[in-house]
Amino acid sequence: MYKIIKKKQLCPVVYLMEVEAPLIARKNKPGQFVVLRVNEKGERIPLTIVNSNEKLGSITLIFQVAGKTTKLLSELNEGDFIANIVGPLGKPTEIEHYGTVALIGGGVGAAEIYPEAKAFKAAGNYVIGIVGARTSSLIILENELSQVCDEFYIATDDGSKGYHGFVSDVLKQLIDKGVKIDLVYAVGPTIMMKVISNLTKPYGIKTLVSLNPIMLDATGMCGVCRVKVGGEIKFACVDGPEFDGHLVDFDLLIARQRTYLNEEKKILELYEKMEKS
Ligand SMILES: Cc1cc2nc3c(=O)[nH]c(=O)nc-3n(C[C@H](O)[C@H](O)[C@H](O)COP(=O)(O)OP(=O)(O)OC[C@H]3O[C@@H](n4cnc5c(N)ncnc54)[C@H](O)[C@@H]3O)c2cc1C
Ligand code: FES
Repeated sequence: MYKIIKKKQLCPVVYLMEVEAPLIARKNKPGQFVVLRVNEKGERIPLTIVNSNEKLGSITLIFQVAGKTTKLLSELNEGDFIANIVGPLGKPTEIEHYGTVALIGGGVGAAEIYPEAKAFKAAGNYVIGIVGARTSSLIILENELSQVCDEFYIATDDGSKGYHGFVSDVLKQLIDKGVKIDLVYAVGPTIMMKVISNLTKPYGIKTLVSLNPIMLDATGMCGVCRVKVGGEIKFACVDGPEFDGHLVDFDLLIARQRTYLNEEKKILELYEKMEKS
């Protein structure tokens, strides 16, 4: 059992939770994730480790309410327990000195670029942060990211804050202005990562994406998280979740992510009905 020691709502659909997990906190590196079950009968869901505090023996998770499990999780409070957390999982990011690194976060992806921003900065890189959301109220970690990044940009689809448009437009403008970017690291909706990868490819800018296929066991045994990268089948839980964006078959990933869409919708509707009755 893993005790929730802090809970904070960051925006209408996104929550932060600090959870006691000393062993995970000790081993975690940027880019890694955990798989948790809210209760004994619950499904397993992967969430990125956004921060870890070795002294307190805690890890920080930031999640968006997407369906039943994340909704259940959001209903837990400080002092409550999460049944199981397994991690750290996945390959850590290879943090190197590249020069200028542009970190791009879409939606809750803004949380996932935070540990990367700190690590790339500590490795001596010039860090550009670009975060995007549908509207200003959905922007998270603005203060934290703007403090770590050397340059920080916000983009909103409706123009309510920062640049009116997509994160990819901001990146394109920087490239067009002649800013020399040595590495792009993007995490967010799959379509966003696809657009970013297509944008950087002709310029030959190395681009890493953190993929989010459906995961089940997260040990490389079940094959559910398989993705096609450079024509080869990889398992995102053990070979990733980060891959070269120029080699990822994004269309296949998008199709596979939709596999259980109807079932997910039905189970959430059922849960919400049960909650009300
Ligand atoms: C390695 C990894 C790290 C992740 N880190 C985070 C994180 O830090 N914060 C966060 O909010 N989310 C993260 N996700 C996504 C998160 O796991 C899903 O949102 C969650 O599993 C949804 O569960 P649910 O039961 O609430 O919703 P479901 O009912 O399972 O799904 C609801 C909706 O979310 C979509 N969805 C389901 N699973 C995923 C998935 N794995 N990725 C993207 N969309 C999905 C479905 O297609 C559906 O539209 C991560 C995913 C992976 C693979
Ligand atoms: S989730 Fe089962 S192999 Fe990756």
